[in-house]
Amino acid sequence: MQKPTLLSGIQPSGVIHIGNYLGAIKQWVELQKTHHVFAMIADLHAITIPQEPEKLRENTLRMVKLLVACGISAKGGSVSDGNPDESVLFVQSHVPAHTELGWILNTITPLGELERMTQFKEKQEKSGLYAGLLNYPTLMAADILLYQTEVVPVGEDQEQHLELTRTLANKFNNRFGETFIVPKALIQKDTARIMGLDDSSKKMSKSATSANNYISLLDEPDEIRRKIKIAVTDSDGTVRYDEEHKTGIANLMRIYRAFSDKPLEEIENKYAGKGYANFKSGLADLLIEKLEPIQKKYEELTKDESGIMDILMAGAKHANSVAESSLATAKKNVGFLARE
Ligand code: AMP
Ligand code: TRP
Repeated sequence: MQKPTLLSGIQPSGVIHIGNYLGAIKQWVELQKTHHVFAMIADLHAITIPQEPEKLRENTLRMVKLLVACGISAKGGSVSDGNPDESVLFVQSHVPAHTELGWILNTITPLGELERMTQFKEKQEKSGLYAGLLNYPTLMAADILLYQTEVVPVGEDQEQHLELTRTLANKFNNRFGETFIVPKALIQKDTARIMGLDDSSKKMSKSATSANNYISLLDEPDEIRRKIKIAVTDSDGTVRYDEEHKTGIANLMRIYRAFSDKPLEEIENKYAGKGYANFKSGLADLLIEKLEPIQKKYEELTKDESGIMDILMAGAKHANSVAESSLATAKKNVGFLARE
């Protein structure tokens, strides 16, 4: 039986923090067993806020290495040619169909739908009102629909974009005939929103003003200890899960649970009467232990980068063949004259 298709994307910032990892990437890796995975680096989305060209190129390559280090099993060369047991790791701008379908979807998207997006409102306040930022969600819908994707594992902040994607897929199908599968978001409730270490009222974010906000997958052990040590808590002093009143500790406990697979009660029992310093030191040890294999793999890939472009070229080839076929159907259904 054919595996269902899963697609997800991440912007090339050069950093993957433990929020990205727990909220999204860990699921991509685990679901490779049961799904045909398309893992995309969203560089077209990245330029909706200003990017330094050289840095963008560098960050794109770093992101590929990070995803492979996390366990995305994509291989380069002929072994990858359409093999459904391997994941397709590719860069969004290598597949022109995304921008083309994005344009078509723009024409059936009411402006109000885009203007009410939370992420647009937040980003627009920081970077100004640009058409690309407003149209970000229609491009994201194109990313997903082109691959006849069934499942999209993302963090909570992408839920609204996924809802719009579903609306657009249904609208397109109703108006022009069955063309796209209507995808479902997969949001891992326990880890869908990891909060900042320095401010537990806001989500952990790589664009935060201080790097103390997040733990990067590549942070050194000392750095991890330091950041966890200064992470915000409260004056109560007991390691107890209370999402409402102890947001800092609750966030750290959720991170502990996700990396250890231990239930919250077990964590509470383990640190009963031991205070925050003890708990934080245990959490830092856990993070260091779990991130070590990812960091090792990343280092290996950095020593020999020859395979990376190979993976991306094989990914682009496969992604293009799937995307072009969906795009051709969409264009025919819209009423475009075929180019012989
Ligand atoms: P981005 O870095 O914005 O491209 O996000 C990549 C993926 O990580 C998306 O699926 C986001 O929803 C997810 N994500 C980002 N920040 C967090 C967070 N603080 N907690 C959980 N998931 C997150
Ligand atoms: N917008 C997503 C984010 O910032 C990244 C993304 C782009 C994406 N295209 C996608 C995620 C398609 C899932 C599916 O996190």
